[in-house]
Amino acid sequence: MPSILKECHVTPREIFLNRRRFIQGGVSAALAMTALSGARHAVADDRAWSGTPVLREKLSTLSPAWERDDRVTPPQYHREYANFYEFGPNKDDPWERAGQLTVEPWKVRVDGLVDKPGDYWFDDLIREAALEERIYRFRCVEAWSMVVPWVGISLASVIKRLQPHSDARYVAFETAVKRDEMPGVSRALVRIDWPYREGLRMDEALHPLALLAVGAYGEPLYKANGAPIRLVVPWKYGFKSIKSIVRIHFTREQPETTWNTLAPDEYGFYANVNPEVDHPRWSQRTERRIPGGGFLGLSREETLPFNGYAEQVAGLYAGMDLRRWY
Ligand code: MTE
Repeated sequence: MPSILKECHVTPREIFLNRRRFIQGGVSAALAMTALSGARHAVADDRAWSGTPVLREKLSTLSPAWERDDRVTPPQYHREYANFYEFGPNKDDPWERAGQLTVEPWKVRVDGLVDKPGDYWFDDLIREAALEERIYRFRCVEAWSMVVPWVGISLASVIKRLQPHSDARYVAFETAVKRDEMPGVSRALVRIDWPYREGLRMDEALHPLALLAVGAYGEPLYKANGAPIRLVVPWKYGFKSIKSIVRIHFTREQPETTWNTLAPDEYGFYANVNPEVDHPRWSQRTERRIPGGGFLGLSREETLPFNGYAEQVAGLYAGMDLRRWY
């Protein structure tokens, strides 16, 4: 699929290429380290997921365009700067700790108001679907942003196969809770009532931009980024894009969602990117594109309504007061 991204900050080519040289240097250094310490090498490898045979086969037929797209955030920034509270509250916690997460075998439970409930193996969910690369802006409510080349299947195609009932008005999602592998789950520091939960109105979930991602940068998802399967809703703040999904539930009522339940004054259910409605701690008028340009990488750019996807999605909210339904 061609890039849906229209205008965005362009990460200067030199920075991108320099980073690549840096990575290549890093790879040689890492190999040298391996000779010294086999154990360290094993930890580094665990962070990546090699994918199931079905996913690898589908990926091999994809011709990723991201390497030719200067706007894309270099992959290591996406992997190493992440929010995944199951591994802790710091941006580098997922990268440091998610290696121990087991993502195979992986099952997703489908239940609620749906004709085809059941436990679906990861491969069964993706086998029939066309894998696409989608280069999307990704905007966190904390006012940083990236441009990520996701690889995934349209959420609508999966929902249609599952055949929800006509009275199913919402789709709810839950993340795995693996206490032995997710150190953040048992830490009192994080007040989340696990599992991490998210949800969409049915028309939002059926919108062609909503994606179930299984990869990024032409590879299976890294564990820090929500392997093996996560949601990506590019016109909403990043917290709606729930990672490592194990349950899809169809319901009549608006589901409870993690951040909205924790702090309803700060995080709405809709969470559409909106420069007009500030979060108490973060102005939403501008954003810091990672890795950042300008002096010390601190330059900011204007945030666009619906993260730049207004033309495609504004109609979903016609007649709604978006200050009230933030
Ligand atoms: N999903 C789960 N299960 N746990 C989380 O803590 N954090 C969310 C979202 N999905 C989160 C999650 C937030 S706040 C953001 S900004 C994005 O994941 C970050 O996705 P990324 O690491 O791929 O950039």
